[in-house]
Amino acid sequence: MRVMITGGLGFIGSQMIRFLLDTISDIQIINVDALTYAGNLANLQDYEHDPRYRWVHAAIGDKAQIEPVMSEGAIDLIMNFAAESHVDRSIYSGAPFVATNVLGAEILVELARAYRVPRFLQVSTDEVYGSLGTEGLFSETSPLNPNSPYSASKAAADLLILAAFRTHGQDVVITRCSNNYGPYQFPEKLIPLFITNGLEGRSWPLYGDGQNVRDWLHVTDHVRALWEVAQHGKPGQVYNIGGHNEKSNREVAESLADILQLPYDVITPVPDRLGHDRRYAIDAQKITKELGWQSQTTWEQGLRETVQWYRDHESWWKAIKSGAYREYYEKQYGPSRKDSPEA
Ligand code: NAD
Ligand code: DAU
Repeated sequence: MRVMITGGLGFIGSQMIRFLLDTISDIQIINVDALTYAGNLANLQDYEHDPRYRWVHAAIGDKAQIEPVMSEGAIDLIMNFAAESHVDRSIYSGAPFVATNVLGAEILVELARAYRVPRFLQVSTDEVYGSLGTEGLFSETSPLNPNSPYSASKAAADLLILAAFRTHGQDVVITRCSNNYGPYQFPEKLIPLFITNGLEGRSWPLYGDGQNVRDWLHVTDHVRALWEVAQHGKPGQVYNIGGHNEKSNREVAESLADILQLPYDVITPVPDRLGHDRRYAIDAQKITKELGWQSQTTWEQGLRETVQWYRDHESWWKAIKSGAYREYYEKQYGPSRKDSPEA
């Protein structure tokens, strides 16, 4: 089986590739990744000499770069992870989000059709549904109501991909997962940012009142769900993925402080994210009933192991935080006593 994975040098895409290479012997993986700030060759270092794996340096928004890969030989499945994925970045500049998340997805799905790829899986997000109040869950039939340029670009891609199914009968499936955590997550996202700041003696910028709620799922559970949908999902269908694990950001921060044995005053309230979605929570009954998927990693175990992973992989995250990422971080928050490079 030949699988094209896009965005495979990022957090979830690299986990997908590790999962496939570790569990399926008869597989060929072509990883199409533009190696943006979020992509990291170190994420798949242990696999780079595996004859079943190859990285192609190409951007999904550039047809001239992608078409030669398609024309090399039959591809059985495309899984599109490639995206600009960080909400905060999208608030200040949405254009790269449209270029990759919308145009890139459309170019890919069109090429998949032209080259008769039997199945296209779009990795989408629960953020396309917008924000919930204190009650209720997002189901696959909840209206699309995105609030940030990031989530609006992902919703646009979902609609284009569903249009390929409705117009051409193309075999596509879409997944919408809740917040992921685990190893190799880029330290601009809440959990790895707080863990690595904690290990460096820096403060934890908690947005607003800290009561925004996310529904956390371990990345290994997400990739298992994606593989179920890739193999057995019905064409033209959307599958929500989530672990029934709602936590407020303050709860997450306090759990991390407990694991890291830090006082809670490391948590520093900062001004809120613009347009900050209040609550996400996923109804995952459909994937459980139709495909038998369930999450396996408990929050307590997953969070402890994640903290340990960052303790054990200091060179991985320090390389990121000392470079371009630091510039971005300081532009966002400015140097503070604890956050300044000299501290
Ligand atoms: P990430 O930012 O860690 O990685 C994105 C990867 O895509 C990087 O390797 C980057 O180099 C690559 N990329 C970016 N633009 C590209 C382009 N034009 N062409 C080719 N490659 C490009 O992202 P992630 O957190 O791993 O998310 C992966 C996907 O999962 C995204 O589509 C995201 O919307 C979705 N998702 C993420 C979460 C989450 O909690 N992180 C939850 C649900 C869905
Ligand atoms: O729900 C799925 C989405 O989860 C994915 O589609 C996105 O790609 C992914 O980035 C993530 O989006 P969030 O905005 O929910 O994740 P983030 O880690 O940026 O923030 C999680 C919560 O923590 C959110 O309520 C904002 C808050 N936060 C975040 C950061 C980075 C803080 O309070 N302080 C911070 O420094």
